[in-house]
Amino acid sequence: MARVTKRSPIGVFDSGLGGLTVFKVLARRMPEESLIYFGDTAHVPYGSKSPEAIARFSSEVAKFLAGRGIKLLVVACNTSSAWALPAIRKAVKVPVVGVIDPGARAALGVSRGGRIGIIGTEATVKSEAYVKAIKNLRKGAKTVSAACPLFVPLVEEGWWSGDVVETVARKYAGPLKSARVDTLILGCTHYPFLKPVLARVMGSKVRLIDSAEETARETENVLCGLGLRAPRGGKGRREMWASDAPERFARLAGRMLGAKVKKVRLHHFD
Ligand code: DGL
Repeated sequence: MARVTKRSPIGVFDSGLGGLTVFKVLARRMPEESLIYFGDTAHVPYGSKSPEAIARFSSEVAKFLAGRGIKLLVVACNTSSAWALPAIRKAVKVPVVGVIDPGARAALGVSRGGRIGIIGTEATVKSEAYVKAIKNLRKGAKTVSAACPLFVPLVEEGWWSGDVVETVARKYAGPLKSARVDTLILGCTHYPFLKPVLARVMGSKVRLIDSAEETARETENVLCGLGLRAPRGGKGRREMWASDAPERFARLAGRMLGAKVKKVRLHHFD
C-alpha cells in the first residue's frame, strides 16, 4: 500500500448520491485537497438494511478506498456513521470522520429552545445515535425523531422538488411540527437535496441543519492535527466511483454539483 503523504487524497463515501452534499463542501473549503468519492449504488439504500449488512458494505468500501491510498476517510453517510464506525475502524488504518457528532454539535450551536427534531433513515433513527450524541452534549435537550424512508429513493430518482416530494414531506413533518421543534437535523446526507421543500414545509422559524459544513471543518481539523493538510495554492484532483450504473450516477452527480462529471468509474464488490 502506498505511503500516506500530505498530497494523498481524502476518501468520501455514501450509499449513493447523498454524500455529495459533504463532498461539495469539502471541495469548496479545501480546493487543494484531492478527493475520491465512492457511491455504493449497488447497495443503496443502506437505511432499510440490517446493522450487519450496513457494517459489511461500509467496510468493503472503506477497504477499497484505503487501497487507493487515502489519508483520511469521511463516512458521508449517517446510516453508516450510526452503525458501522467500529467495523470501519477495524477494517482500515486511516483516521475516520463520521457525520453524526458534527451534526449534533451544529444543531445545538443554533437551537434556541433545545427542541431538536431528527429525520433520518429507519436504521439511523433506530440506532438513536443522534439522540445519544445530543444528550451527551446537552443533557436537558428534547429530541423527536422521525424516519423518512421515501426520501432516499426520491433523491436517487432525481426528484428533488415538486408535488410528490412536497406531499411526502408534509406527511413526515406532521409529528415534528406538533412537537414544535425549533431545529431540524437532516440526519441523512440525501436530505439536503430536498432543503427548499423541507424549509417551506417546516416554516421559517425552524432551523435546518445538515452536517456537511461541520463535518468538513472537523476533517480539516483532523488533517491539520496530523500534519497532513495538502500544500495551499494547488488544485486537488477529483475521482469518482460507483458500484453500479456509473453513467446514471455521473448524470445526477453533475446536476447536483452544478458541473459536468466526466467520468465515474465502476467497482464491483463480489
Ligand atoms: N445518505 C445516507 C445517510 O446519510 C444513506 C441513505 C440510504 O442509503 O438509505 O443515511
